[in-house]
Amino acid sequence: MDRHTIQRALLVAGAALTAVNAVAVPDPTAVPAKVEIRAPVVTPAAIRFDGRHSYMYDRRNIISDIASGADNFVHSLGSVLGTDLPSYFISGIPGYFQDFPSGSDVASSLGINDDDLKATPTEVLNVPPYANWTDQGWNVRFHGNVYKVPNISQSKIDDLANVFLIGTSMDKLSPDEQANARNLTRSIFIVQQSDQNVSMHLEPAPSQGGDGEPGGGNAITPPGGSQNITLPYLTTAEGDFDVFLPIKNVSGGGLLAGNETNNVQRLNVYTNGTLTGNATAFLVPPTGITFISDIDDILRVTKIYDPKEGLLNSFARNFTQWMNMPVIYANWSRTLPNDTHFHYLTTTPEQATRNYMDFIYKTYPGGSFDTRPLNFSNVTATLSIRMFLLQKVFETFPTRKFVLVADTSNSDVMKDYPSLAHIYPNQVQCIFLRNTSVTDDSDKFPYDTSGFEGLNNRSYMFFKVPDDLRGLDIVNGQCLNETIPQNVTFGIQDEVLGIHGAAGKIGGSATVSFVVALVAAMFMVL
Ligand SMILES: *[C@@H]1O[C@H](CO)[C@@H](O)[C@H](O)[C@H]1NC(C)=O
Ligand SMILES: *[C@@H]1O[C@H](CO)[C@@H](O)[C@H](O)[C@H]1NC(C)=O
Ligand SMILES: *[C@@H]1O[C@H](CO)[C@@H](O)[C@H](O)[C@H]1NC(C)=O
Ligand SMILES: *[C@@H]1O[C@H](CO)[C@@H](O)[C@H](O)[C@H]1NC(C)=O
Ligand SMILES: *[C@@H]1O[C@H](CO)[C@@H](O)[C@H](O)[C@H]1NC(C)=O
Ligand SMILES: *[C@@H]1O[C@H](CO)[C@@H](O)[C@H](O)[C@H]1NC(C)=O
Ligand SMILES: *[C@@H]1O[C@H](CO)[C@@H](O)[C@H](O)[C@H]1NC(C)=O
Ligand SMILES: *[C@@H]1O[C@H](CO)[C@@H](O)[C@H](O)[C@H]1NC(C)=O
Ligand SMILES: *[C@@H]1O[C@H](CO)[C@@H](O)[C@H](O)[C@H]1NC(C)=O
Ligand SMILES: *[C@@H]1O[C@H](CO)[C@@H](O)[C@H](O)[C@H]1NC(C)=O
Ligand SMILES: *[C@@H]1O[C@H](CO)[C@@H](O)[C@H](O)[C@H]1NC(C)=O
Ligand SMILES: *[C@@H]1O[C@H](CO)[C@@H](O)[C@H](O)[C@H]1NC(C)=O
Repeated sequence: MDRHTIQRALLVAGAALTAVNAVAVPDPTAVPAKVEIRAPVVTPAAIRFDGRHSYMYDRRNIISDIASGADNFVHSLGSVLGTDLPSYFISGIPGYFQDFPSGSDVASSLGINDDDLKATPTEVLNVPPYANWTDQGWNVRFHGNVYKVPNISQSKIDDLANVFLIGTSMDKLSPDEQANARNLTRSIFIVQQSDQNVSMHLEPAPSQGGDGEPGGGNAITPPGGSQNITLPYLTTAEGDFDVFLPIKNVSGGGLLAGNETNNVQRLNVYTNGTLTGNATAFLVPPTGITFISDIDDILRVTKIYDPKEGLLNSFARNFTQWMNMPVIYANWSRTLPNDTHFHYLTTTPEQATRNYMDFIYKTYPGGSFDTRPLNFSNVTATLSIRMFLLQKVFETFPTRKFVLVADTSNSDVMKDYPSLAHIYPNQVQCIFLRNTSVTDDSDKFPYDTSGFEGLNNRSYMFFKVPDDLRGLDIVNGQCLNETIPQNVTFGIQDEVLGIHGAAGKIGGSATVSFVVALVAAMFMVL
């Protein structure tokens, strides 16, 4: 454990023990400020979707990982409470969450040989790209993955799917739910194809996108721009491709120049050699507002902070919109200027992308997409992927403004969104965070608002329901709905646990019973 980790561990332990002490000593005690805390699940869905290293996959290993990797302070806290906490409850990173299965791992662990695979068609996940306007014309970020779906028997798929479920199993699910779970499990156990050439055909997109999305998202169909393009590099060891490429330009009734239109233009992108690699590319003008939106627990109901529910919502149940959030987005899409663009950025792993896109494009305005590429599989990379993807968007559009939307249950969001506002003060227009901790009492994980210190307190809003976002004049910088009380303490907060950060007070014995309930819940999970 390096010094920084130890320091943080001590600080956090201090905070947690203070919470415990608050019971012994009835007087409310302030929690130390500036404690860095990470929620248990950094890229929550990731853990769930990664078959081989899912925390559900080998429960014994996880317990021993936790035991061996657990920091001493966790044990000491555990001994106070009479039981041990999983280390990631307090310090964040699940140590077992590393090394994604590579193509050959999936194949060999399932006994699939090369000949079986040869007969299997190659598929391409083509993630809907964005493009910026440069001196060389439009510059498109093509990214995605080349893979094959091995022929795994349904009974084996069901065995694999069972690993992802808590307190239930495939045979107890409804036929719809079984179909969803099988679909996602098959999407996870794919064999990625390295060293592949990828070529695309581009053409103007009519109102429907190539990936089946409805109109909306403010985009228009360009007058021309059909062309073929071959990516300059082969796919990586994990089958990924990710490259910015200039596409052919404007002359002769082709694409509209980025400096001559305010509209976002839409091109369909078809991958050569497969019907599975369709996407819609968005050519985004240099100025205007881009909404960058997380998906879980803000656009759909996931309950990532409640593992049993989170897994059912991710694996088995149909994706469900969060309240009337689609109305808010539709309203933004309809009423904001033509140069408004939507970008969906989630750290869910690439393998689940199709399901997320399918849901988004049926429910929310069309837009470009980012999920977590497969090579971001070690702990450091996993923790940093959101910032990496966000910075890529910011650097691609240095003169656009961004509205960042998510919920408080992702510790990386809580760190990265305010960081962006500090790093690019002229680019972050608004930050909107749904406070899941105040609206959902199954969210028992604290969140940290310390990153917001020093930002203009009218540039962000913590909100409870989609309607809180109604009627804001976002273009003119109105980000705060005055009727929604803000409780930002620039410290660790959790309305359910009664933790209100440095400026707040620790609640009474309710705190400990919540922590104990949480520990019990965690152990039922494990
Ligand atoms: C737009 O950019 C192109 C290429 O950089 C340039 O030739 C053209 O003059 C610009 N148009 C306007 C209106 O600035
Ligand atoms: C998949 O394997 C089963 C037997 O294991 C076989 O009956 C079926 O035809 C195969 N499907 C394809 C598409 O190869
Ligand atoms: C799973 O469902 C998605 C969305 O409906 C679909 O695009 C994808 O092809 C399916 N995946 C598999 C492996 O069947
Ligand atoms: C693109 O390639 C296809 C074959 O894959 C060909 O039919 C078509 O003419 C090409 N289009 C252009 C604009 O080169
Ligand atoms: C498309 O792929 C086929 C082989 O699958 C190849 O022969 C053809 O040249 C490719 N077309 C383009 C435009 O890259
Ligand atoms: C991709 O586009 C092609 C050409 O329009 C179409 O035939 C195919 O069905 C599309 N694939 C999907 C999965 O929608
Ligand atoms: C889930 O989605 C499928 C496909 O869209 C639909 O047929 C089914 O009725 C849905 N199930 C529920 C419980 O809504
Ligand atoms: C927005 O785009 C539409 C479609 O091209 C156009 O009719 C309209 O005039 C544009 N609005 C503005 C304010 O430029
Ligand atoms: C983790 O991944 C990052 C980015 O992919 C890489 O730079 C780093 O070296 C990796 N660290 C380890 C320990 O493998
Ligand atoms: C376009 O995007 C690329 C890739 O992020 C970036 O390097 C470049 O500076 C951007 N160009 C402009 C004019 O913003
Ligand atoms: C602020 O805290 C109060 C009391 O816990 C709560 O009712 C309110 O919803 C909180 N506001 C937000 C935006 O979380
Ligand atoms: C503010 O929030 C309230 C409560 O959700 C909502 O009724 C109102 O429309 C929102 N917008 C403004 C500008 O007050």
